[in-house]
Amino acid sequence: MDSNGDGVGDLRGVIQKLDYLKGGRNSLGVDAIWFSPFYPSPLVDFGYDISDYCDIHPDFGSLDDFRELLEKAHAKGIKVLLDYVPNHTSDQHPWFLESKSSKDNPKRDYYTWRQAKPDGSAPNNWLSIFGGEAWEKDETTGEYYLHTFYKEQPDLNWDNPNVREEMKQVLRFWLDMGVDGFRADAVRWLSKDPHFRDDPKIEHSKSHDANTSAEFDTLLHKYSRFWDNLFPYLRELTDVLKKYDDRIMIFEDYPDGNFSTREQYMGFYSIDPEVSAPFIFEGIWKPFSADLFSRMVSDFQGMMTPDNIPVYCFGNHDNSRIATRLGAEQARALALMQLTLPGLPVVYYGDEIGMTDVPIPEQERMDMRDPERTPMQWDDTPGAGFTNGHPWLRIGDTSDSRNVAKQQNEPDSFFALYQRLLRFRSEFDILRLGKYETFGDENPDVMSYALRHNDEHVYVAINFTDTNQRIILPHSGRVLCCTHPIDYPDISPDGEILLRPYEGVLVECAEHPLK
Ligand code: NOJ
Repeated sequence: MDSNGDGVGDLRGVIQKLDYLKGGRNSLGVDAIWFSPFYPSPLVDFGYDISDYCDIHPDFGSLDDFRELLEKAHAKGIKVLLDYVPNHTSDQHPWFLESKSSKDNPKRDYYTWRQAKPDGSAPNNWLSIFGGEAWEKDETTGEYYLHTFYKEQPDLNWDNPNVREEMKQVLRFWLDMGVDGFRADAVRWLSKDPHFRDDPKIEHSKSHDANTSAEFDTLLHKYSRFWDNLFPYLRELTDVLKKYDDRIMIFEDYPDGNFSTREQYMGFYSIDPEVSAPFIFEGIWKPFSADLFSRMVSDFQGMMTPDNIPVYCFGNHDNSRIATRLGAEQARALALMQLTLPGLPVVYYGDEIGMTDVPIPEQERMDMRDPERTPMQWDDTPGAGFTNGHPWLRIGDTSDSRNVAKQQNEPDSFFALYQRLLRFRSEFDILRLGKYETFGDENPDVMSYALRHNDEHVYVAINFTDTNQRIILPHSGRVLCCTHPIDYPDISPDGEILLRPYEGVLVECAEHPLK
């Protein structure tokens, strides 16, 4: 939300919309907001190139605006999480400007500098996610520096204890201000092979990193990331959080075919599950299949211990929007699933109204991920209620039909579905804390599970196909929420229910009702 008409969303705009999020008339009902980076930055990578970790980019407001936002959010019971970008800074960060200035600058080792090979080429074969080599030669000293992302994002050297201390200070700065936690960016690159060995070449990559270049996928990234010190370094960060009450860090880490799911995720959960958890992105690229989603969730729920918080997430600013990837009906079914699974669900802004990718003409393009980053569609006015000025990125032409104002008045809207599910989620502990169990294996096209908590039971059944599907619930019950909200399906006394295409239901068990 843009409060000052410059076409860019800002913190005062968020303050204006806090009522939408929670506590206002007809609000969505969320408990926490995660902000993508709003720090001073040349904005080469949408703010993921930070030039000052402890301030606000003037386009977005000031520290005073942020303090006000935090206070007002907290007054409404909304927690505030920030994006913490530990792997790299902007090449305009004062640390890097010093670091590159000479080989004996005290900040030289804040980043990774290496000499060229004798033939003048890069120190090893590591590649940048965004294409090309992960090394850039700097003429000042003639050495190369490492950058896993754009060359304007030099990697910090986490093996340097001073860097780790500086980055812990950044956490303390925001935690002292009252921030509730962080989403930690690209953490797997914090630890690399100290010998800088070449990554092996591969024929067919099994990894699925978001937005990686085709060239990047020709190497097995064995030495350039996920090295031995990763979890110890992350534990240093969670130890900082531990000194404060009730804070959290959520690690960004995508599925990696080089490690088993268990190795990868249990590694993150071993850090300190009381204050941290990894995102579960396994569903982001999955074909829409009951069997695949059911297996994915069962695997996770089966391997997690009761103190592990699952963070299922199916959409974000790096991936095509859910309603575009899967379709609108499928997106509603997925919402019902996400908001009835245990743990801490994270929803990307706009997905709650079924926003779709917006095609951006070549001449307006700023980033390959523009289509999923377009302004929030608040209403059907020309600026979609987002701005009175010229929006920084083109607004979707669905904004006249898919917008908040309209959907707040429609009982069958995306918004109404999210709102209802979020209300149940906050009213009934079972939806956040229940024990997950599958049932109904007889129909492979339906994902079906029960949640049990104390002596309450609920059932969820989701039809993943475009045809009607029948399923028998363990007991009969009452539909609490349905993706087809106008007419709920009947449940027979013996628990039989006929689901329409892509229909999902949340059912309260008659024998073990919610209290
Ligand atoms: C992951 C972020 O989500 C993405 O947007 C960014 O480009 C990279 N990390 C680099 O910070």
